[in-house]
Amino acid sequence: MLKIGDIEMKNQVVLAPMAGICNSAFRLTVKEFGAGLVCAEMVSDKGIVSQNDRTLDMLFIDEREKPLSLQIFGGERETLVQAAQYVDKNTNADIIDINMGCPVPKITKCDAGAKWLLDPNKIYEMVSAVVDAVEKPVTVKMRMGWDEDHIFAIENAQAVERAGGKAVALHGRTRVQMYEGIANWDIIRDVKQAVNIPVIGNGDVQTPQDAKRMLDETGVDGVMIGRAALGNPWMIYRTVKYLETGELMGEPNAREKIDVSILHLDRLIALKNEHIAVREMRKHAAWYLKGIRGNAIVRNGINECNTRDELVSLLTNFADEVEAKEQEAHQVG
Ligand SMILES: Cc1cc2nc3c(=O)[nH]c(=O)nc-3n(C[C@H](O)[C@H](O)[C@H](O)COP(=O)(O)O)c2cc1C
Repeated sequence: MLKIGDIEMKNQVVLAPMAGICNSAFRLTVKEFGAGLVCAEMVSDKGIVSQNDRTLDMLFIDEREKPLSLQIFGGERETLVQAAQYVDKNTNADIIDINMGCPVPKITKCDAGAKWLLDPNKIYEMVSAVVDAVEKPVTVKMRMGWDEDHIFAIENAQAVERAGGKAVALHGRTRVQMYEGIANWDIIRDVKQAVNIPVIGNGDVQTPQDAKRMLDETGVDGVMIGRAALGNPWMIYRTVKYLETGELMGEPNAREKIDVSILHLDRLIALKNEHIAVREMRKHAAWYLKGIRGNAIVRNGINECNTRDELVSLLTNFADEVEAKEQEAHQVG
């Protein structure tokens, strides 16, 4: 089982933190599909310290999402510690996670995200400082290294452990790889063997069978799923079930996908406002529609929608059409 500090997850399946995606609306939906742990999108330490309104809005957590891990990023000790203290005292997050994987230049230029991967001593110092300043368990999510020539995953994970970090999530790619190539699971296994804190494996888990294979091949305590859950919370449910029972559940049909996308939309509207939510939902709606035959026209239409009513009627009309076609085919067959 996956246990971080005193927090015991009900299973080993973890939703990855994803910026611009993992807000409360999506996380709660994924939680309802059975995730053992959900991770929030990364939040800027400086945004928290300067009490930026938009940043503080990102700290909202619905009680039903718990247990939840809230991720902060930063490059300087003082602001990172202050932000962690704020999260510790003022949010209902269960875990404070530190980002050491973000590859984007805007972030690494500020010595944040994946930049840390070059310096295990800095990792030790920064994580120690945060651990000493807060009560909630502190964890780290990292990539395996900066580039081919600087893969310090083992040293870095050991530094987290020595500093009092309670778990490490490891994405088996370097910073330079961004999202290219294939995630290296061997290094995930090596890190698992090198530390005594829980390790969560991450990278290229696309199916429930991949999740099982990662657990079997690397011995990790949990499996973290990112892109495969986009527009597809069923991936989480199917994985949980597969790990529990060995049974592979079927894929959802068009109506189910569209119903859940509308639930997601309504939660986004409640969280933000209709104007922002509908725009933000465009990418999600396209992901929900992936794999449904004949979705090209409706996918284009999504980008023209500005209101809930427009988007909902486009999606429900499409579900009606798909069902009518299926019935027709059934009758002909
Ligand atoms: C759109 C997007 C946003 C992401 N944002 C974050 C983030 O805020 N924090 C983080 O640690 N990783 C972030 N990641 C990386 C993922 O958590 C994960 O490590 C990566 O996608 C590999 O896992 P996957 O193959 O299951 O997608 C992001 C990935 C994507 C695709």
